[in-house]
Formats: sequence, C-alpha cells, structure tokens
Amino acid sequence: MISKLSVLLVDDSHDMLEILRRNMNEIGLNPVATNNIMDAIEILENTEIDLVITDLNIPEVSGIQLIKYMSQHFSSIPILVITGYPNVQDAVEVMKLGAMEYLIKPFTFDELEDAITKVFSQSGIAIDATEIETKRDNFHGIIGRSEAMQKLFQTIDKTKNNRASVLITGESGTGKEMVARAIHYNSDYSSAPFVSVNCAAIPENLLESELFGHVKGAFTGATTNRIGFFQAANGGTLFLDEIGNSSLNVQAKLLRAIQEKEVVMVGDTKVQKVNLRIISATNSNLDEMIQSNSFREDLYYRLNLIIIHIPPLRERIGDIELLINFFNQKYSKEAGKKTLNFSSSIIEIFNSYTWPGNVRELENFIHRLVIMKDEKVTMEDIPNYMKMVISNSTNDSNFVPLIEMEQKYISKVLSAVNNNKTKAAEILGIDRKTLREKLKIK
Ligand SMILES: Nc1ncnc2c1ncn2[C@@H]1O[C@H](COP(=O)(O)OP(=O)(O)OP(=O)(O)O)[C@@H](O)[C@H]1O
Ligand SMILES: [Mg+2]
Repeated sequence: MISKLSVLLVDDSHDMLEILRRNMNEIGLNPVATNNIMDAIEILENTEIDLVITDLNIPEVSGIQLIKYMSQHFSSIPILVITGYPNVQDAVEVMKLGAMEYLIKPFTFDELEDAITKVFSQSGIAIDATEIETKRDNFHGIIGRSEAMQKLFQTIDKTKNNRASVLITGESGTGKEMVARAIHYNSDYSSAPFVSVNCAAIPENLLESELFGHVKGAFTGATTNRIGFFQAANGGTLFLDEIGNSSLNVQAKLLRAIQEKEVVMVGDTKVQKVNLRIISATNSNLDEMIQSNSFREDLYYRLNLIIIHIPPLRERIGDIELLINFFNQKYSKEAGKKTLNFSSSIIEIFNSYTWPGNVRELENFIHRLVIMKDEKVTMEDIPNYMKMVISNSTNDSNFVPLIEMEQKYISKVLSAVNNNKTKAAEILGIDRKTLREKLKIK
C-alpha cells in the first residue's frame, strides 16, 4: 500500500458517506467511514487517523460528543465539521472544542478540498496541496508517481516479507540502495541488521576474512576474533552493492556461502549456519558479463529470483517535477529558507534534460540552488549543458526514440517562448489542442 493520509468520515447518511469517500480518493487521501459515534471512537483508538470529518446531527450520540471526546483524548487530530443545519451556537461550541473548519451542506468538491487543505495547513500536518500530493507519491521516502515507480512500490510490498533473493538493476543514482533499504526496513525482520557491502571494494587479500570473519591468530595482524559480513547480517539482509564489479574470486566465495547457507571463519574449522536475505544491486549488464565470462552464471541465478529494474529518470519524466518539489521543500526547510520558485520554462528544461546522474544529480542540483539562491531562480542559474541537451543528443551516438525527441523539442520551443502555448503551437505548426495532448503524454 502506498502511504496516504487517513481521514475518518462520520455521517449518519449513507449517501453522504459515499460521496465523501469518493472525494477523498480523488484528493489522494485514504477514507475510513462510519455512520455512528461509538464506531468512530473505536476506529480512532485502533487506527492512525490524520483528520476527522464529522457531521453534527447524528442520532443517539451527536457529533458534538465526538468532538468533546476528541478534545480530551485525541486533541492533536484536526477536525472538519460538516452540517446541514447551520446553528451559530453549535458552531461556536465546536470551534471552542477544537474543530478547525465548519462547512455547511451542500458544499462543492472544491469547497471541501479547500477546507481540508486549510485544516491540514493550520494543524501543521501539511502546508499545502502539494504536500498532500507528496505524501501520496511517497513510499517510505521513495518519491515517484510514474507507472514504473507505482509498480515498483507494489513489488516491494509483495516481496518484503519473503526471503527470496532480490536483484536490483538500474543506472547510477536511480535509487537502488534506497529500494534495498525500503525492502528491509518494511519487512517483518526490520529490527534485524541491514549490512551493506561494496563488492568492488573488498581487498583481494582480505576477501575471505571480510566476508566470513577470522579467528585470533589466523594470520599476521589478526589479533582478535572478528566476524565477517555474513555473520553481521545474520537474521537480516546482506546488501551486495555493485555486484557486477566483484572479482571472480569474490563471486566464487559468495556463491558457496549463499548456496550452502553456511560460512567458516578464516583460521577456524567450525561451520556456522547463517540465515539471511540477499539483496544485490548493479548498474552493469550482467547478461552481457555472463557472455564474456566476467560474471558467473550460477551466481546470477542465485541472486535473481526477483528482479527489480529502476528505469532512468529520463524515462519517467512524470517524476521529475515531483522530485524537484520534494528536494526543494526538504533542503529549504533544512536551511530555514523559503522554497525556491521555478518558472514553467525552467521546469520544461528539467523535463527535457537527460539527467545522466539520475535522481542523485537532480538532488544535488536542487540542493546547490537552495543554498545559493533566494526564492527566485532565473534562466542564468541553469547551466548551458542542460539547455543544450537537444542539439547534443542529435550529433553524437546518444540517439533517443522519436517520441522522446518530440517531447524535448516541444519543451525547447515552450521555453523559448516563455511557455506561451499559443505561440509554441504556432511555431510547431499544430493547434493548441494537439499541443495539449502531446504534453499529456509525459
Ligand atoms: N525515488 C527517489 N526518491 C527520493 N530520493 C531518491 C530517489 N531515488 C534516489 N534518491 C536519492 O538519490 C540518491 C542516490 O540514491 P541511491 O544511492 O539509492 O542510488 P544508487 O542507484 O544506489 O546509485 P549508485 O549506483 O551510484 O550507487 C540518494 O540520495 C537517494 O536518497
Ligand atoms: Mg548505490
């Protein structure tokens, strides 16, 4: 499940609850509904609720009683009151008790959405609608709205409690380690260790001792017993990072330990059983490496029961603006500054740039801007290599699919005319409607 803010809906009218429920789904909130106060209290006691929307006129126990109860037991949960019978006295009373907004039926969807945003912002849960959005597209810190990322969130959910080996592939900076950690820390064994090993950086002469540990006196310098990565990760997850860059020697040792689920410390004869989950990550093409004999095929099949591929950022353009907002908010907050403003033409440049360093590059870039700039970002702050991306990609071997090229060209034209869509459509020789359709493809 993608984490969402939860809203408890309380109304005796079944129809009203149904409308509210649909509205909540549309806004991206998670609705929990009931038609009576006693159930509402039980839900509050057993579920994490971020907002309560309640009617006042409910038979038997009234909404006012619920608000009173909440003021004593759940005073930090914001309340939005909806009622069909406006009554000044009630309104004053519920406001005194801590209800933050009061909406009179019938109301429109827009009025409801505005009231919710206001309540959240007043209670400090979320500052504005974009924050509600961020929460919806934030899976334990991994940001993404694109179809690829939503699928990835589902895969993590499905596989987290399974101990099957997972191989995560993707270019540098796409978030492979983040995904590995998300799997571990959302699993049933999250309190067991997560041990990360950079397979390319294990010194050859210490290989076995690093992986499996050594006993005192095993070799010169082994002054004490020391456990290896396998024992350290026992019960939890061993994350084999950059597995594609491991030497054949390392691969042979790993294969044996993974296959047998046991290790022997250097200088010892005792066999130790280990029980762990292996998650590995690589930005190399292991299939090709198997063909050229630089990666062991038998190890590959031990590692890849589940394969998670994280596409590069340029293939999920829909996530770019979301990530920009996320890092803009994160680093501005950290620096105690106001968030930066990006014009739509600058966003277009970001959308058409290829981001060879993926999310890491984007994160660093926004972080730097937040430090250097105050609120306003201008075209001069955007480096030329980002603006030049279209001409570059046509004169080297970095060819892209036609549709991607078209998107980039549209972005370039849009930024050249300050995002004036009428002008852009004129230059492109298409009507505004077609331009709108093409922009939606992203
Ligand atoms: N979807 C995402 N949402 C938020 N932050 C992300 C996302 N993807 C990556 N990042 C951030 O980008 C940076 C790089 O992520 P990570 O180290 O997981 O990438 P990687 O694929 O392991 O890279 P490398 O191959 O270079 O080791 C980290 O700071 C991480 O927090
Ligand atoms: Mg990494």
